[in-house]
Amino acid sequence: MDKKEKILIVDDEAGIRRLLHLKITKAGYPCETAESAERALEKMQAEQPELMILDIKMPGKSGVELLPEIKAKYPDTAVIMATAITEAANAINCMKNGADDYICKPFNLEEVVISIDKSLEKRRLELEIREYQKRLQQKVDEQTIEIRRLFLGAIEALVFALEAKDKYTAGHSRRVTKIALAIAKELGLPKDEIEDLRWGSLLHDVGKIAVDQSIQNKTEKLTPVEYEHIMIHTQIGAGIVKPVVNDKVVEMIEHHHDHYDGTGFNQTISGEDIPLGARIMAVADAFDAMTSHRPYRPAMAIEETLGEIKRCVDTQFDPVVARAFLKISASLPVVKNGQAAAKPLKAQKSKVSQK
Ligand SMILES: [Fe+2]
Repeated sequence: MDKKEKILIVDDEAGIRRLLHLKITKAGYPCETAESAERALEKMQAEQPELMILDIKMPGKSGVELLPEIKAKYPDTAVIMATAITEAANAINCMKNGADDYICKPFNLEEVVISIDKSLEKRRLELEIREYQKRLQQKVDEQTIEIRRLFLGAIEALVFALEAKDKYTAGHSRRVTKIALAIAKELGLPKDEIEDLRWGSLLHDVGKIAVDQSIQNKTEKLTPVEYEHIMIHTQIGAGIVKPVVNDKVVEMIEHHHDHYDGTGFNQTISGEDIPLGARIMAVADAFDAMTSHRPYRPAMAIEETLGEIKRCVDTQFDPVVARAFLKISASLPVVKNGQAAAKPLKAQKSKVSQK
């Protein structure tokens, strides 16, 4: 049975090319020859052989010079260096640079075939191991994505359960997410940043699980201590999601109440140092909070809310983000429909929560 791997013999001496060609063809390998490094590169471009026999010493570009080029461009091609017995040290050096074996002139043709068989067997095993590792890595990646999706889905369900319990906040995170994503698209954010923002917005208030309900639902003005207590939800929320989301999402949640001018509660950063996702969420969150009923005040009218956002451009809100929101606000369903906050939760489903 003919062996299938192709072999390219690169040697400047016609006699050696003929001799090797005859022996290797007889051993069952399809075989081609090239008389120089340049010609070998041309042949490699047309069709890559699985193995190359490469003469170390050739006029023009030598085999020693050609080897790293071949290994860089065609890493799956096995290379056997052919050398005069007096240059064996050179050949051993080539093996350090990626050659698979070396054969010495004058050739023992049986040994040449053994070297070819051995090198091709090694190559086959390496390819099999690489393919196996690739499949294994693929499986690990798939499992990681699935585990992450399940975790995120569980946390998202927790957020919705928390919100559903409270008529004032029902559906808040989903509406904030819709507005935040619309702003992000208007700003031309790339896909991966939009995906981070989606998770940041959906989970931004998960830390409210640690907030005292009686303080959250208080009908009078909050005391500074009570306000401070409510604001711990940014840190707690960041801590809850940290094991399952990337750092960007964690930082968005941590800073979603930061004011652009740095005057927010216990703020450590300001302006552009606040993650862009957090600056977007700040506008979306404020809009939805103002247009929703709260225990201490009724929902604000849309026009009044937009006026309030305009008033806080450059102070509470990033001017670029706020202007993007104001520009698209009229076309947003949550804005057009007015008091979207009053809609029942079951009418608004998210992909993950349905599972
Ligand atoms: Fe919040």
